[in-house]
Amino acid sequence: EGPEGSGKSMQICELAEFIRQQGFEVITTREPGGTEIGDQVRQVIMRMDNTMMNPRTEILLFCAARAQIVAEVIRPNLEKGIVVISDRYADSTLAYQGYGHGLDLTVLKQILAFATGGLTPDLTLLLDVDVEEGLNRRTAGGGEWNRLDAMKLEFHQRVRSGYHEMVKTEPHRWKVIDASKAPSQVQLDLRQAILDYVRREYLE
Ligand code: TYD
Repeated sequence: EGPEGSGKSMQICELAEFIRQQGFEVITTREPGGTEIGDQVRQVIMRMDNTMMNPRTEILLFCAARAQIVAEVIRPNLEKGIVVISDRYADSTLAYQGYGHGLDLTVLKQILAFATGGLTPDLTLLLDVDVEEGLNRRTAGGGEWNRLDAMKLEFHQRVRSGYHEMVKTEPHRWKVIDASKAPSQVQLDLRQAILDYVRREYLE
């Protein structure tokens, strides 16, 4: 998880490779999207001219894409013992639609539980970066600048503090990674977080 421009996608690729090298099968998924149906839903969410989109519609679309990827990809792979790394999951909806747009968190959690069938991550890594720095990186990097990026800075600040709230309520599931460091250091910190998790959950 993480705000815009925190470098998630690139870090996830390298992290997946690292876990593979330890002898595990790994798949990575991306939200919204990651399935044929999910990618179609993603296009509707991201279209710049869909400015009329109601926040409730947006939530249901994110959750529709997520329901599909959970059923089609995440659950079947977990059942085979494969490690799944997801670029964003339910916490993105809580951060963006809940803390960002101010929608009721209790209701959102119910919708999320329905969409995911109650599937929650074992470990969630937050790539934490200053909002302005993240947005700058994104435009400087020439990445796609979408409708959601264009929203005002305060929105992204609420998203960031939302993530921090979630970390406080469930500290055992989260690990905050300082994503303002050099990418190679961020990768080392992510790997360390995974090793700490495995040690804590399986070896102690
Ligand atoms: P994307 O282009 O995938 O960017 P990123 O690299 O930031 O993941 O855009 C996803 C956007 O959708 C991003 O602004 C976060 C937002 N989002 C939500 O608002 N709610 C959600 O549930 C999800 C999954 C994403």
